[in-house]
Amino acid sequence: MKNIVILISGGGSNMAAIVKTAQREAWETSVGARIAAVISNKTDAKGLQYAISQGIPTRVLDHKAFASREDFEAALAACIDEFTPSLVVLAGFMRILTPSFVNHFAGRLINIHPSLLPAFPGLHTHERAIAAGCKFAGATVHQVTAELDHGSILAQAVVPVLPTDTADALATRVLTQEHVIYPKAVKTYLLSIK
Ligand code: GRF
Repeated sequence: MKNIVILISGGGSNMAAIVKTAQREAWETSVGARIAAVISNKTDAKGLQYAISQGIPTRVLDHKAFASREDFEAALAACIDEFTPSLVVLAGFMRILTPSFVNHFAGRLINIHPSLLPAFPGLHTHERAIAAGCKFAGATVHQVTAELDHGSILAQAVVPVLPTDTADALATRVLTQEHVIYPKAVKTYLLSIK
């Protein structure tokens, strides 16, 4: 069985989309994969309640309780490793990761970013897309490498930017597509590995 570990910091709607797809498509038998754990760096991450309601093991590692980024990441890596993951999925996990953490999970760490990378890495992507006058925006699933929001592109979705769009309206339109492409990309990845 290939174990998936999902890291969240907030609402966890992408995580929930992956869990729902895994249930609907019976990934345990059809893909040989299961969501082994959901880990959050925030105690109050809403997504934790959903994971618990689905009987998925959860862990919380509050980054503020650690003296340094390195200490937090060492504990996080150990916590993830307990679940022997084939794939670690960042789903709205709002911490910058050091090269040493990324290298530890090299080739089995993916992220979703709410822009059409390589455009607009980093924060405030929707505001920046609107300010730049983009006619299209979207989301990107990519391999995680040491450079923030770089790494090979696994999937993208495109949505229009409407003349009346606020950042929130655009974010909502993009998020709907994230929920489509992320589960698909996770499944494709899992089917591609032994
Ligand atoms: C998504 O827009 C994702 O692309 C970004 O953070 C947001 C997380 O949303 N990295 P959720 O927690 O999955 O609802």
